Amino acid sequence: MSDFLPVAAVSEIPDPGKLLVECQDQLVVVFHVDGQFYCLDDVCTHDGGPLGEGELKGCVIACPRHGAKFDIRTGAALTMPATQATRSHEVKVEGEQVYVRLSS
Ligand code: FES
Repeated sequence: MSDFLPVAAVSEIPDPGKLLVECQDQLVVVFHVDGQFYCLDDVCTHDGGPLGEGELKGCVIACPRHGAKFDIRTGAALTMPATQATRSHEVKVEGEQVYVRLSS
């Protein structure tokens, strides 16, 4: 498993809000909801849509292409047309810094 890497400052991600970041040459989306941080691949499992451009409501992100919804806490696909989870990654906060550890 990879190390935690710094990706953003806490102040860069409003609550609620999200930020597209690059981590080890991969695009991932960091979410900030109710004081908690979560991270998913910027990839919808239906057809590769950019989840970071989707609409965030509570802990649910909707793919901007065809509307599939994912749980930002787990990456689980909640609605069609997506049927498979997208990858989620560990997040930690130390001071003002947000860190992500990519899942393998
Ligand atoms: S690409 Fe995301 S719902 Fe189709």
